[in-house]
Amino acid sequence: MQHANIDQAAVEVFLKSWQLYQQIIENNYMFHREISDAVRDSLISFRPNKKLSILDLGCGDGSMTLRLLPPERIGSYIACDLSQPALEIAHRQIDALAISAKLICDDMLNVASEQPDQSLDLVFSSYAIHHLSANNKQLLIEQISRALTPDGRFVLIDIFREPSEDRAAYMRHYMGRIRESWTNLTVESQALVVNHATEYDYPEPPEFFHVQCIKAGLGNAQALAKHTWHEAWIYAKESSQSLQTRYTHFKNSNPCVS
Ligand SMILES: C[S@@+](CC[C@H](N)C(=O)[O-])C[C@H]1O[C@@H](n2cnc3c(N)ncnc32)[C@H](O)[C@@H]1O
Repeated sequence: MQHANIDQAAVEVFLKSWQLYQQIIENNYMFHREISDAVRDSLISFRPNKKLSILDLGCGDGSMTLRLLPPERIGSYIACDLSQPALEIAHRQIDALAISAKLICDDMLNVASEQPDQSLDLVFSSYAIHHLSANNKQLLIEQISRALTPDGRFVLIDIFREPSEDRAAYMRHYMGRIRESWTNLTVESQALVVNHATEYDYPEPPEFFHVQCIKAGLGNAQALAKHTWHEAWIYAKESSQSLQTRYTHFKNSNPCVS
C-alpha cells in the first residue's frame, strides 16, 4: 500500500480539527460502541439512587463518556481536555442534555490534582491516559484515588499493549491493523493517525495499571471488555485492609497477537 508523506504541521491539523477522530468513532474502529455498552451495563447497579459526581479526564468531545450513564444519573460532570475544538463540541452535547457541567481546557494531571479529597463518585478516562509518561500515569492514579469517595469507581478505557508486546511490537501490530482494516479512511488520513500514534502513544499492559492502582488504594480490578487492544477496566476505591490483589481476567478475551 502507498503511504503518504506527511509532516508535523499535518499532524497538528489532525489534532486541532478533531474531524478525523470523529470519523474513527463513526466507523467504530476503536470499539466505542461495544465498550460503552459494557461499561454502561456495569454501572447500572452502582449507587442507583444517587446523582453521581463525575470527573472525565481527556474527555475529547464527550462522545464516549456521555454514552455511559443516562443524563438523569449525572449530578455534576467535570471534564478536561487539551483540545479546545473537542471541548467546544462537548459543550454543545452537554447543553443538549441539560447536564450540570464544568469543562476545563487543561492537563488532566492538573485537573485531577485540583479535586478535593473524597469528592467524586466516578472518574472516567477513555483513550487518553496512554498519552502520559509512565511516571505521570502513576501520579495521576494517586490523585484519582485520593479524590474518589470510599468505594467510588475508576473506569479506565484505553489501548493496552499485550503482555507479550513491547512498545515497538505494539506499534508494528497496531499500525499494520490500521493500514489493513481502517479502509474507510483515505491513505492520507491513515498516515496521519499512524504518525500521531507513533509519536504520542505510550500504551501499557494491563498489569501496569493493576500494580499502580493497588499501590494507590484502588483494588478489585474487573475487566469489562476487550476488543483487540481496546479494553475497559473498573477499579474500586478500597480501604487498605480490604485491598484485594486479585483481579478478574476477562474470560472471552481474544489476544491480538499469538
Ligand atoms: C483519543 S482522544 C479520546 C477522547 C474521548 N475520551 C474518547 O474516548 O473518545 C484522546 C484525548 O486525550 C486528550 N489528551 C491527551 N493528553 C492529555 C492531557 N495530558 N490532559 C488532558 N487531555 C489530554 C486529547 O486532547 C484527546 O482529546
